[in-house]
Amino acid sequence: MDKFIIKGGHPLRGTIKISGSKNAALPIIAGSLLADEPVTIHNIPRLQDIYTFNNVLRVVGAKVHFDDQNNVVHIDPTQVSYLEAPYDLVRKMRASFYMLGALVGKHGYAKVSLPGGCAWGPRPVDLHLKGMEAMGITISLDKGYVIAKAKETIKGGEFTLNPSSVGATVNLLLASVLRAEEFTIHNAAQEPDVVQLCNFLAERGANIDGIGTSTLTIRKTNSLSGGEVYNDPDRIELGTYMIAGAMYPGNDLTLTGCNAAHLGNFPEQLRETGTEVNIDGSIITVKAPEVLQPVSISTAIYPGFPTDLQAQWASMLTQASGESTVTDTVYFDRFSYVPELVRLGADMHNEQNTVKIIGKTPLTGASVMSTDLRASVSLVLAAMVSKNTSEVLRVYHLDRGYESLETKLNAVGAKISRIEAE
Ligand code: UD1
Repeated sequence: MDKFIIKGGHPLRGTIKISGSKNAALPIIAGSLLADEPVTIHNIPRLQDIYTFNNVLRVVGAKVHFDDQNNVVHIDPTQVSYLEAPYDLVRKMRASFYMLGALVGKHGYAKVSLPGGCAWGPRPVDLHLKGMEAMGITISLDKGYVIAKAKETIKGGEFTLNPSSVGATVNLLLASVLRAEEFTIHNAAQEPDVVQLCNFLAERGANIDGIGTSTLTIRKTNSLSGGEVYNDPDRIELGTYMIAGAMYPGNDLTLTGCNAAHLGNFPEQLRETGTEVNIDGSIITVKAPEVLQPVSISTAIYPGFPTDLQAQWASMLTQASGESTVTDTVYFDRFSYVPELVRLGADMHNEQNTVKIIGKTPLTGASVMSTDLRASVSLVLAAMVSKNTSEVLRVYHLDRGYESLETKLNAVGAKISRIEAE
């Protein structure tokens, strides 16, 4: 498994281009299976999760060509015939569960492995399944697989997501647009990733009311067209580099290809730390303050503070002067980075779903490892402000979700080398 060797203490100055969004791409790649014609999607990041999901599509018979040098994926869904997503692929990536909605929505049948556990605690799919049942789809479980069956037309009805869920909203949209007479999702997720999927489906002929709100009403359409679409920039990658820019005195980053509207309240929260944040169209500049102020946050659904940025924020707060807390209300168990940051010299501990951080502590080089994507990047951020040299092990987590992470950071002054596994 590859690892990073990071020499800390070098300021980051220069320009980073933000890549296409992983979490926004996956729903529209799944949504392409609903179309009657090929779909071409631009601005798709070269990420392990994208390669994995393309393989899931190939298994069911879609023709997928990923021109990864140009970040374009072509999907021809017209030959799909095998309506199963096996455990081997679904366990690699939870979002493969989107195949359930896509296949049953288009073909009336799907057999998809349950995703199982995850590095940061239980992540149930009960709402995906109950929502589909409420719509008129028959769901049964068989040896770790979910089998979904739907008639040509199902009645629909309504379903309330409690809590609001990105994944369930995506799956219910995929399952309903070609089948349900009328189906309403209450407390639907309003994350930009969901809005992009709704717009993608609507542009191809789907009938969806309430796009961008928490109440979505879907009325059956008989077919969806293909065509070309541009994937949104990655708001979590953007937020991560904004945090990187804030973390070390002298840092001065310019981030291009951004969609600031997708950041919710995040820029305001970053400004409260004393960081200078300027937004000019698709360009965001971030200048670190001499003294970073501690700003406590609590994660929430969009437009609140994203759970996918809490580990990076906690890493930054180790460099703020004073005490602060980070609370995750979306996932209670997403703190595998805490003992690793402590190994680097942080003064922090977590109780239940809150981490208390006492700053500012100097960080020193150490060997660290984490078990998920966002936790891993929080260690890279910390290693970049540490004295001496650190090792971040198991960077395959990062390769799942950050396109060319070390190339982008080295271009602005970081000293990160990848040691490839033998
Ligand atoms: C997506 C993102 C992930 C992000 C998360 C929250 C992708 C591929 N992943 O994950 O990076 O951290 O949104 O923004 O886009 N829940 C249930 N039952 C369900 C489904 C969810 O109880 O059937 C709960 C979850 O345990 C969690 C909350 O709902 O507490 C939100 O989870 P959800 O929005 O579904 O996350 P994902 O779509 O899995």
